Amino acid sequence: MAKGVDQFVVTGQAQATILGIETSCDETAAAIVTRDPSGQGTIRSNVVRSQFDEHAAFGGVVPELAARAHVTFLDHIIAQACREAGVALSDVDAIAATAGPGLIGGVLVGLTTAKALAAALDKPLLAVNHLEAHALTARLTDGVQFPYLMLLVSGGHSQFVLVRGVGDYQRWGSTIDDALGEAFDKVAKLLSLGTPGGPAVERTAKLGDPKRFKFPRPLLREARLDFSFSGLKTAVRLQAEALAPLSDTDVADICAGFQASVAEIVAVRAGQALAQFHSELPEAKPVLVVAGGVAANQAIGAALRNACDAAGAQLVVPPMALCTDNGAMVAWAGAERFALGVQDGLDFTARPRWPLDLPDMRIGADAA
Ligand code: KG4
Ligand code: ZN
Repeated sequence: MAKGVDQFVVTGQAQATILGIETSCDETAAAIVTRDPSGQGTIRSNVVRSQFDEHAAFGGVVPELAARAHVTFLDHIIAQACREAGVALSDVDAIAATAGPGLIGGVLVGLTTAKALAAALDKPLLAVNHLEAHALTARLTDGVQFPYLMLLVSGGHSQFVLVRGVGDYQRWGSTIDDALGEAFDKVAKLLSLGTPGGPAVERTAKLGDPKRFKFPRPLLREARLDFSFSGLKTAVRLQAEALAPLSDTDVADICAGFQASVAEIVAVRAGQALAQFHSELPEAKPVLVVAGGVAANQAIGAALRNACDAAGAQLVVPPMALCTDNGAMVAWAGAERFALGVQDGLDFTARPRWPLDLPDMRIGADAA
């Protein structure tokens, strides 16, 4: 039966304004997003406080420091998000927060705050899977229709996911060791390039010769859609040790060689994933959506564009501020679920691990 306007209203598809809270890693973020009945979203505010300064001295995110900073700043960030949107907390229709996966101290800060607000204001709670929030962002920014393929490449994740619908995901490949952003961060640390590592490696690579070192492309000869970056990282370390002390040219050439290697790996895998998309869903328009902080990398972006052109697929890269962690993506994922009638209980448990393709992600499934 075609869905009429009445049915939309009955099934919860009225306009909804959602507060979204993100605290699963090192960004304290809150946003107000409105979804209209046609499924279009509007970001009314999107406030992100990065904890760069808290962690800079340690060369990586320290979970306890991250949780403490979320405790200190979250209330203010939420207040700012409401102020900038011109929306009172009492006017939102539901409160969404990342409930996992992520650093559990931080997740607890955001989810518990959301539960307290939901209880105090008598509003529905939406416990959002952080990966689903990344996966659905392209629908907010570009109105992408289901189904599509997503490549999530961040500091914690590297995976291809078939996005069939809200709550309906199939993971086609992941990393078997380091995430891609993590590999960039480790290479940066090894070469003393500072943090955040990814942008530092990219900047340095621009000055180098990508052909001087031929680093390995782990797993690439295998047909599976998985990634492996730890052997590549070791090859970079061994090369750096062999050349020590490193000149600026050595460092730039190593960065360029490393980046060329990962760009090729990602592009080849994207081509394979798009071929699988075509063979499993021959009627569907092939679309590859990229999410996560590594999407900012221009060499990887160019390689993905080539792969998509070769496959006749559309490449969608949301604006960078929405590829990295933010509250708007959480509010939007909450809005998409809320429109389908989903609400979560105040007893929803925070989850350090929460794969996207667990059956309980499905709309209508009982929460585990
Ligand atoms: O999505 P994100 O902001 O946070 C999570 O990990 O959830 O991603 C951060 C990751 C870091 O590992 C960072 O080094 C990497 O994305 N990154 C980059 C670039 N910008 C950020 N990696 C390569 N090139 C970049 N330009
Ligand atoms: Zn993320």
